[in-house]
Amino acid sequence: MSGYHSPQVDVPVRLNTNESPFPPPAEWVASLAAIASDTEWNRYPDRSALRLRAEIAARHGVAVENVFVANGSNEVLQTILLAYGGHGRTVATYEPTYQMYAQIARVTGADVVTGERRGDFTLDPEEIRRVSERHRPAVTMLCNPNNPTGIVEPRETLGALREATDGVIVVDEAYAEFGDWSAVDDVREEANLIVTRTFSKTLSLAALRVGYAVAPTWMVSDLETAVLPYHLDAFKQAATLAALGHVDEMERRVAAVRAERARIESSFTEMAVEHWPSGANFVLFRVPNAKDVWASMLADGVLVRDCSGWERLAGCLRVTIGTPDENSAFLAALGRALAR
Ligand SMILES: Cc1ncc(COP(=O)(O)O)c(C=O)c1O
Repeated sequence: MSGYHSPQVDVPVRLNTNESPFPPPAEWVASLAAIASDTEWNRYPDRSALRLRAEIAARHGVAVENVFVANGSNEVLQTILLAYGGHGRTVATYEPTYQMYAQIARVTGADVVTGERRGDFTLDPEEIRRVSERHRPAVTMLCNPNNPTGIVEPRETLGALREATDGVIVVDEAYAEFGDWSAVDDVREEANLIVTRTFSKTLSLAALRVGYAVAPTWMVSDLETAVLPYHLDAFKQAATLAALGHVDEMERRVAAVRAERARIESSFTEMAVEHWPSGANFVLFRVPNAKDVWASMLADGVLVRDCSGWERLAGCLRVTIGTPDENSAFLAALGRALAR
């Protein structure tokens, strides 16, 4: 197997990993020294991360027992697949989607089955029924809004999935704040539904590595069984708790990202660049000679994600929405690359 790679290059404009272009609030950064000095470094942290989970639970109007927290949503996904995937079980993905689903599923010993999206990257309920009936997956992954396409699934997609499978359904909402509906409202004790979220995108905390899931209480207990003890360090728990005091401010920035996304999409239309409607903080687009265009933009100091070598994404690049200046630099570099 090969690992997951997202090449990092030191350039002035980095629009390749869907981070927030804005740093977290300065007040929060200033509070970290006090948090570090209050940490009891000789003691193991609160293993159940109770205060942090309670605060996240309150934000979603669920009980603390409905929340599981880990080191980034990647670790949440890994824990789900440790608990419900593994040898002799099947995990379903609908491609193209976030590459880590298949990667983690395979590393943790499961078989992966691949459902196909339509040509426009939307999901056909018929395909969901076909994959679910034929392969009876123990776990089905649904990314909404979907990375790397940016497509927002209609609620009916989740309905079709719930009818088709009695396995675990994971809705990965890493980009939920940019989309228009959430499956968190559908989490019930009697449903096999688990929704994952991250602090890495809208909340500007990719460096801190925190993500969480909202799920039925029995699933949260299963995840606590599978995860390592003390996986969430004490500083991180306290720093994340402090960050939750600034969430409203950070969520207000979503409007700025959406406005810039609209600017990039309409520039694509003016430049006759094929692209897909995005409900996230990035846009997938297709150009002739994608590798040359990518390299030309890089030479101009602008890094985007080259998806052109991925299956089903020939000619595609993905740009993360940055600051207005970064986006202008991107559009100018793209214009020059296409002219060459
Ligand atoms: C769809 C999706 N899920 C999960 C993640 C992982 O995020 P985290 O930083 O929370 O591990 C990403 C990161 O790019 C993502 O795009």
